[in-house]
Formats: sequence, structure tokens, C-alpha cells
Amino acid sequence: MRTRPLKVALLGCGVVGSEVARIMTTHADDLAARIGAPVELAGVAVRRPDKVRGGVPAELITTDATALVKRGDIDVVVEVIGGIEPARTLITTAFEHGASVVSANKALLAQDGASLYAAAEQHGQDLYYEAAVAGAIPLIRPLRESLAGDKINRVMGIVNGTTNFILDKMDTSGAGYSEALDEATALGYAEADPTADVEAFDAAAKAAILAGIAFHTRVRLDDVYREGMTEVTAADFASAKEMGCTIKLLAICERAADGGSVTARVHPAMIPLSHPLASVREAYNAVFVEAEAAGQLMFYGPGAGGSPTASAVLGDVVAVCRNRLNEATGPGESAYTQLPVSSMGEVVTRYHISLDVADKPGVLAQVATVFAEHGVSIDTVRQQGKDGEASLVVVTHRAPDAALSGTVEALRKLDTVRGVASIMRVEGE
Ligand SMILES: NC(=O)c1ccc[n+]([C@@H]2O[C@H](COP(=O)([O-])OP(=O)(O)OC[C@H]3O[C@@H](n4cnc5c(N)ncnc54)[C@H](OP(=O)(O)O)[C@@H]3O)[C@@H](O)[C@H]2O)c1
Repeated sequence: MRTRPLKVALLGCGVVGSEVARIMTTHADDLAARIGAPVELAGVAVRRPDKVRGGVPAELITTDATALVKRGDIDVVVEVIGGIEPARTLITTAFEHGASVVSANKALLAQDGASLYAAAEQHGQDLYYEAAVAGAIPLIRPLRESLAGDKINRVMGIVNGTTNFILDKMDTSGAGYSEALDEATALGYAEADPTADVEAFDAAAKAAILAGIAFHTRVRLDDVYREGMTEVTAADFASAKEMGCTIKLLAICERAADGGSVTARVHPAMIPLSHPLASVREAYNAVFVEAEAAGQLMFYGPGAGGSPTASAVLGDVVAVCRNRLNEATGPGESAYTQLPVSSMGEVVTRYHISLDVADKPGVLAQVATVFAEHGVSIDTVRQQGKDGEASLVVVTHRAPDAALSGTVEALRKLDTVRGVASIMRVEGE
């Protein structure tokens, strides 16, 4: 075994970084044996130097992250600061100064993955980011490496633990959104400002990363259709139950049937209870992958948290260190297919639409005509009437999203339709 240690610079020592530092210290011998050389924590950049950080020697702490990545003797920079800047500049500076990078930063990778890959390649360095999607769950490496000989057609997953916890509470206890969010906040599953989670920005970033890797093309955050889950109601769960479904916030990346384009979207959807993703409870994550030769695969586990995420980070550190000892680099960006990303309007799926209508003869025929005029074929209709008002629940066959939007717009204009109570996509059938 080589005796000269490989040097690791840690940028950020918060929820994830502190666990990376702890595991590096407590498992130093095992990591050295697996890599073939010792790994040494050479510096830890933070914002607040005076904060007590148990287990991290005070002399390693610095507020000058730029100087740390410019040292020239660093082998691996672990970026667990988060956000776009200064993370982006620090990563590119690390490449320029001869270090490889391991990052957990989904927001940055979804926005600027291509330019970061290019910088890594230009300087002959590695860029690894297993922890950026679904925390501890091995997913990026299986997609990038294990399935590199197959053709992936669909990736559908629950990639945000906070929203899965909230939806699971609504499902099991009948709670409304606000009540379930309060419980998630009290238990530490939701942040004080939950916008990134509940409005699905976090899941959209992960969908962009997954789609790019799965389909060997570039998919940016802006390409991902995004709908949050704040409008999901207890009534939606009741409707889902009547259909033998539950509701999940799903990230769905698909290759078009003709193979000529891809789509990426994140939105709440009904999913049959028989689907493996329906049984993903609490704050767990799971990703369901459909590949031509492999068939259906499911990846499941803790999608966040300091220790689980640090596990994924350290797996990358070991891989990058091994590459350095072999004077090699791992797989770079694979975006050779250059497939266009289609808009949401072109996505084809099923819909569950709940309408408040006047309870009088001919309404059902009027509504059915609007669906037919827009080319949306109806699968089932359920009507319940009381005191001159009625609710009409329509479930469609597969139709383009644009056709459904046109249908709903026309329905709203009917005198007999008092309101559109909810529209929910139905997936996984
Ligand atoms: N938490 C999770 O469960 C999880 C899961 C998957 C991926 N991730 C990703 O991992 C990354 C880190 O998340 P986290 O939860 O560990 O965040 P965090 O707890 O907020 O920690 C951020 C760390 O970065 C440091 N920092 C902030 N700005 C800095 C700057 N300008 N220069 C140097 N250090 C700076 C902070 O210093 P101070 O300690 O002094 O404030 C802190 O140590 C993010 O990209 C996140 O998306 C997190």
C-alpha cells in the first residue's frame, strides 16, 4: 500500500459535511485498505469558524475555501456547501488546480452540469455526484455504469423525502396538507421554509440529472415541467382510494415511443396501490427504472440525512481516489444522443378530473361532448348528485397533456360546470 496519503479538502461541514468528516476519521483504516493508500482530511472550509465541530481538529478549519482548493496538493475536493455560488467557482477552481471533485449539489448539477463536466474533462479530473440524487441510494452509478450496456426507457421515482412524508401522513391519517406539513416540520423532515421541497424545485433538479444520465442527453432544470404538491387535498386522497390508488409526488423521465425525444416532469399523481412506488412510506425515496433488456428495477432507501448522504459521498471519494492511484479518470458526461426535450403538452398519460356540476338532465352528455371534441377518450365516469348540485368524476384513457388542458378550458366555459375541483394525472398502470 502507498504510504503517502491522498488529501481531501472538505467544503462545508454542516449536516452532510460533518458526517463525511466523522466517517473519514472513524473508518480511516478501512478506507485506506479499500483505496490502497491512506486518505487524509487536509482542510475544512466553513462560514462560521467559531462553531464547535466535534471530531474536526480546529487547525483544519478555514473560512478561505478558495485558498484551500488552490493549494495544489489536494487530490479530492468534497463540495457539500450547496447552492450555486460560491460552489460553482470553487469546483472549477479545484479542477484548475489539479483536484477531482465529489459533490452532493443537485441544484448546481441540474443547472450547470454540462459546463462542470467540461471543466473536469479539460483538466483531466473526475466529477462524481452520487449523493446529489436520492441520498444514500446507489442510483447514479448504476445508471451511469451498471446499465451502460442497456437502453433505459423510463425513470420514475419518489426523490424527495419531505413531500413523501407529508403525502404519506395525508394518506394514512386523513390529515390536510397544512396539518401534515406541520407534523413534518415538528419532526425535522421539513425545513422552516419548505418551498424547495413542496413546490418541487428539489425534485425537478433531480429529474433533470436523472433524465440526462438515463438518456445520454442534456436535460437542464428549465426543461423539467414542475408542479408542486401544496394543492393536494384530503378529497383527492379519498378519490384516489376509490380508484385503488394513492398519491405520490413523482419525478418522471421518459423516452418517447419513437425514441426521438425525451420528457422530464415532476408533479403529484395517482398511482395504483399495486405499484411498487405506492408502498414507499414516510421520508423514504425510491426510483423505478425500466430498461429494455434488464426490465423493471427498483432502487429504495433513505434519500436524505447526514449519515446516509455521507455514505454516498464517501463511496465517490473511494472511487475517485482509486482512479487517481491508477492515473485514470472515471466516466465523464455521456450526452451523445442530443435528444430534444419535449414540452409537457406532448406528454401522454391518463387523468382523473373532478367537476362540480349542476344536477340536471343533459349535463353528462354536454361534458362527454367536450372531451370527445378534444380527442380525449373517457374510461370511466362517476356521478353523485344532491340538492341540485352534483360531482362528476371522469377518468380518461391516455391522452396528450395539451388535449387535456384544452378540454378543461372548454369545460370551465360550460354554464353547467360550476368548477373544476381537481385534476390529477394517473401514472404507473
Ligand atoms: N442534508 C441532506 O440530507 C442532503 C441530502 C442530499 C444532498 N444534500 C446536499 O448536500 C449539500 C450540503 O447540504 P447540508 O444539508 O449539509 O447543508 P448545511 O447543513 O447547510 O451545510 C452547509 C455547510 O456549508 C458551509 N458554507 C456555507 N457557505 C459557505 C461558504 N461561502 N464558504 C465555506 N463554507 C460555507 C456552512 O458553514 P457553517 O457550518 O459555518 O454555517 C455549512 O458547514 C447541499 O448541496 C445539499 O443539497 C443534502
